[in-house]
Amino acid sequence: MAVLVTGGAGFIGSHTAVELLNSGKDIVIVDNFSNSKPKALDAIRKITGKDFKFYEIDYLDREKLEKVFEENKIDAVLNFAGYKAVGESVKKPLEYYENNVSGCIVLLETMRKYNVKKFVFSSSATVYGQPERIPLTEDCKVGGTTNPYGTSKLFIEQILKDLYNSDNSWDICILRYFNPVGAHESGLIGEEPQGVPNNLMPYVVRVAAGELKELSVFGNDYDTPDGTGVRDYIHVVDLAKGHICALNKLDKEGSGLFIYNLGTGTGYSVLDMVKAFEQITGKKVPYKIAPRRAGDIATCYSDPTKAKEELGWTAEKGIKEMCEDSWNFIQKNKE
Ligand code: WQD
Repeated sequence: MAVLVTGGAGFIGSHTAVELLNSGKDIVIVDNFSNSKPKALDAIRKITGKDFKFYEIDYLDREKLEKVFEENKIDAVLNFAGYKAVGESVKKPLEYYENNVSGCIVLLETMRKYNVKKFVFSSSATVYGQPERIPLTEDCKVGGTTNPYGTSKLFIEQILKDLYNSDNSWDICILRYFNPVGAHESGLIGEEPQGVPNNLMPYVVRVAAGELKELSVFGNDYDTPDGTGVRDYIHVVDLAKGHICALNKLDKEGSGLFIYNLGTGTGYSVLDMVKAFEQITGKKVPYKIAPRRAGDIATCYSDPTKAKEELGWTAEKGIKEMCEDSWNFIQKNKE
């Protein structure tokens, strides 16, 4: 039996593939390299010393996707195939809904056809919109997303709830990621955003490397300890391990629909991150204060208690590893 990993060459998919192989699972990866590179697959093999089957297909291609289910004994699916750039989603809403929502529906329909009903979905803290309260627990209200990327996650969550209500033999786990950063300690896999990065950590790393002049800190007048935005940064390897715990939970339960926050429970401000990065890497990160970025909120961090109690999962890596591993990755992967 194998776990199908869609988007397995991407940032979170590749790290999760490593953890799956390390935990003794067989995997099959599907990716169309729309925002990833084939070398990630070799890196996964190198890190784990294990091999797996790979299909270069778009998960919207129903015929090709069905072939994957025909040719392999799939018993669970982890879905990392999705577009994830907030700003781009505002400009390309149809592409985002098509790829994220329609793609997920094709995947679920294919699973149903082959009677595979174990599904782990990559959701996002962004579904909470303007947080009802901090720290965010899973029962906080969702909605009020401010961009098509976030709304696509919200829609898929609703689709999964409706699907489960229609047939409760499904076994579904929705994981709401907070802010994934860092890279595998080997430096062989990590985040490689195309063009100028939008997210804080990839931007900081490129400033430190001298590839970008300075960081713009988007607002220092928020109601936070130093005025800059506070987020729950989580090391991608911890996040990947959360998926193994989620799969174990689904195996144990047999059926159900579960939702967990994957975060550390600690909030760091933009300036906390800059200072920590400078201290840990010894590199300067010049920055200027810029206006607030549209759609940003002041503070967002998780209460990860439910994942701890029900999945036995806690984030183990701190800000030091997040900075070190992000830096190590860019050093080892200079174009
Ligand atoms: C973090 C903080 C910025 C860049 C987004 C998505 C979310 C998830 C992760 C995944 C904020 C500040 C940033 C910069 C800055 N998506 N910042 N200068 O906005 O919390 O979450 O990414 O794929 O769904 O919404 O993350 O890293 O963009 O920002 O000052 O150049 O850093 O204002 O306070 P965010 P981020």
